[in-house]
Amino acid sequence: MQVFETKKDLQDYLFKKSQQNLTIGFVPTMGALHEGHLSLIKKAQKKNNLIVVSIFVNPTQFNNPEDLIKYPKTLKNDITLLESIHCDVLFSPPVHELYTDKVLATSFNFDGLEHQMEGKFREGHFDGVGTIVKTLFEIVKPKNAYFGEKDFQQLQIIKQMVLKHQLPIKIKGGKIFREKDGLAMSSRNAALLMEYRKAAPFIFKILKKAKKRFSTQNPDEVTRWVEKQFKKHPLLKLEYFTIADQKTLKTAHLKESNQQYRAFIAVFADKIRLIDNIQL
Ligand code: PAJ
Repeated sequence: MQVFETKKDLQDYLFKKSQQNLTIGFVPTMGALHEGHLSLIKKAQKKNNLIVVSIFVNPTQFNNPEDLIKYPKTLKNDITLLESIHCDVLFSPPVHELYTDKVLATSFNFDGLEHQMEGKFREGHFDGVGTIVKTLFEIVKPKNAYFGEKDFQQLQIIKQMVLKHQLPIKIKGGKIFREKDGLAMSSRNAALLMEYRKAAPFIFKILKKAKKRFSTQNPDEVTRWVEKQFKKHPLLKLEYFTIADQKTLKTAHLKESNQQYRAFIAVFADKIRLIDNIQL
């Protein structure tokens, strides 16, 4: 695997490769890689013949400075994992390579998608995500880019960004990878203390029960039921549970036919914030 830390080295390499008419598949990440990340890379390998993965802990998408400092960094292990699945290129630049002037996000308009859920609770988060993903797209110039449904709102926002800015990139979604006990894989899971790690599968259990209830109850009733379950839980604190229209991401209060809904959840396990979602 080729590893690059500067834009110039990566672009020189990709320029040479472009003469071979290769299709570039791109998987942006913040590292501390797990099976969820690897599943996106494997998906990319099926449709592209040059796979670029980036590892960059993007400071402008963290609204909580402590979260940024504590974000796990496991580059050596990440490289071993990437080599084990025959990834072609890793781009792991330092901050000043991607933020040449100030470490600031550009302001984006994602037609309201950014004001729901994660955008409501993590101010400026999607400006940070939009800024870094657009920068990375401009450097890598992939044909296809892969994002997980684990961050479903992010996936929709990136699709919207590509549409609005007319970027010649296809955005593909990958399904959520889970631990055996149902907990959605996340780089943050490793930071959970044992008792919180044991408690965390409750999140997906509740999502599955909410999905069942949704067949007979309206979104508000399901939401109230979920809130009640978390009030009774000794360790996990619910930040939000929302049933939203899958396209607009707006909270749904009543069920309408011909609409696709998804339930979204954010939970604090001590100081670790976990998110998950399920199609209804
Ligand atoms: P990160 O959290 O490292 O995730 C990188 C990609 O892996 C994202 O598209 C995310 O949705 C996907 N992913 C994470 N956990 C997953 C799981 N359990 N199953 C399937 N896919 C999963 O998301 C980011 O980084 C950043 O916001 C980034 C897009 C890189 C911009 O900085």
